[in-house]
Amino acid sequence: MCGIVGYIGNKNAYPILIKGLQRLEYRGYDSAGVALLNGQVNVYKKKGKVSDLEDYITGQDIRGTIGIGHTRWATHGEPSDVNAHPHTSQNGTFTIIHNGIIENYSNLKNSLTEQGYSFVSETDTEVLANLIEYIYRTQETNAEIAVRIALSKVVGAYGLVIICNEEKDKIIAARKSSPLVIGLGDDEYFLASDATPIVEYTDRVIYLNNDDVAIIKKDELILKTIKNDILEPNVQKLDLGLSEIEKNGFDHFMLKEIFEQPRSIRDTFRGRLNAEKNEIRLGGLYHVYDQLVNAKRIIILACGTSWHAGLVGEYLFEDLARIQVEVDYASEFRYRNPVISEEDIVIAISQSGETADTLAAIQLAKEAGATVLGICNVVGSSISRETHAGVYTHAGPEIGVASTKAFTAQVTVLTMMAMMIAREKQLISVEKFTGLIKELEDIPEKIGKILENNDQFSDIAKIYKDATNALYLGRGVSYPVALEGALKLKEISYIHAEGYPAAEMKHGPIALIDENMPVVVIAIKDSSYDKIVSNIQEVKARNGIVIAIVTEGDDTIEKMVDHVIAIPETDPSLVSLLSTIPLQLIAYYIAVMRGCNVDQPRNLAKSVTVE
Ligand code: F6R
Repeated sequence: MCGIVGYIGNKNAYPILIKGLQRLEYRGYDSAGVALLNGQVNVYKKKGKVSDLEDYITGQDIRGTIGIGHTRWATHGEPSDVNAHPHTSQNGTFTIIHNGIIENYSNLKNSLTEQGYSFVSETDTEVLANLIEYIYRTQETNAEIAVRIALSKVVGAYGLVIICNEEKDKIIAARKSSPLVIGLGDDEYFLASDATPIVEYTDRVIYLNNDDVAIIKKDELILKTIKNDILEPNVQKLDLGLSEIEKNGFDHFMLKEIFEQPRSIRDTFRGRLNAEKNEIRLGGLYHVYDQLVNAKRIIILACGTSWHAGLVGEYLFEDLARIQVEVDYASEFRYRNPVISEEDIVIAISQSGETADTLAAIQLAKEAGATVLGICNVVGSSISRETHAGVYTHAGPEIGVASTKAFTAQVTVLTMMAMMIAREKQLISVEKFTGLIKELEDIPEKIGKILENNDQFSDIAKIYKDATNALYLGRGVSYPVALEGALKLKEISYIHAEGYPAAEMKHGPIALIDENMPVVVIAIKDSSYDKIVSNIQEVKARNGIVIAIVTEGDDTIEKMVDHVIAIPETDPSLVSLLSTIPLQLIAYYIAVMRGCNVDQPRNLAKSVTVE
């Protein structure tokens, strides 16, 4: 949430900042702004998209080899020009960009008001800019010390980049709970919320840790803690290609990412499955292997789509590995008084690895003594560093705000974990285990077949694009798939959609069904097939429209429903990897036909770094 970029070096900063903001726009698109240091600080900011900012800046002075830029997802104060970042302190000394929330901003604001400060915006960030300036002036200190003192008074989360009008040779950056990466060039440094704006300039990066402060000149970087302890920078090599963050001919990132799933799933299991040796090797779990295999209870914590993947995980761990599983929204878990024991294994699932609620839930679980594992997509992300052990999904950067390939990659990891435990505990035979490995290896090709029939999804979308409501039903492992299908539709097309366990329909939602209501039923051949067929009949008896996702060769359901989408047969444990694909594509085409901004749906942002 909110994207931050910065540059210091010998080049003109503006084009680097604008390109960086375009790459980070998926993190927030309420407003955008840049500040350029060229003798003086010029700030340009505008409500709306980065393109609105570019239009506004045309013809203005864009010189400067030091600059910072921001794309905003509004927290304090509505999206407006004045609330856009960067924010400058009252006397113009400090200009800052910020991702996160200053929780005690109201108290700080009152104290500063008493000292004669007034505020032009409604943001917590302007309060911080003025606090730094107030300390700088009253304590007659330098910018770095003023920043560190100010941050010691702040409660909340921040990824922060600061320029000072009176110390024109440096950028100061700091991080607490909101991500910040520094890219190292030759006599130049790049800063960003994630590595996507940096990758085309350098592959050497430093991920800041909580409470780190970086003082960056074009030819020098000093890293220290807020308390002034000098730190040794940990320079890492970036494993990210430029083509991974571009659309490569697709109309939208979401479509590209849906079509990438054969590749992303293959990359997720590559080198980890070994059918000949009857083995699944998840290197990141080695030192917790025994604890995991012998776990009495697993608690899965996540938000949104990752939570849906967790629900699929619940079926897999219980069915294959016979371990009791609880799946909780991280945001609920952290504010209950959950019962956690030292024997518990907690699995946190997160594409971004930065979700604030998931991070806070991890802290709580760690404090209670549980062993916490992470399933993350973004390498080096906060969650991957906060957890005791974990498995990366290797789906590659997911830029469309609606999560697609991350979900199937998460399910792939959960499947491998459940299979690995099941085999170790000898709950499944060698034959069943190798059969499952082979089935999993075949999944990318089967997804490829679904994608080949892409036209059927746009045909269905054409018919139902003007629907106002939709219901998604599934049983067993198809229930989380129904939830996921409904979430995809509502978040990108703004059609109200609900996912339900099919049997629950009779307990309320059936009242909604009429001849205008599309009901998407995941009706694959598994142990609850007959039951779901009955559920379809119940919908049809009330004139509902049924779109059924069925197993290839099913000619029973075909006769009963309005549309069938056939997916290749696979083991029931793996079917969610296939049945999700049509739902992603139907949601995508409906949203496109309704003229929605598919990659940047309204009010949303990728990477929810505020609670
Ligand atoms: C929906 C979506 C969100 C995320 C949720 C968690 O398409 O993308 O629901 O799944 O915000 O994000 P991560 O996985 O980054 O923790």
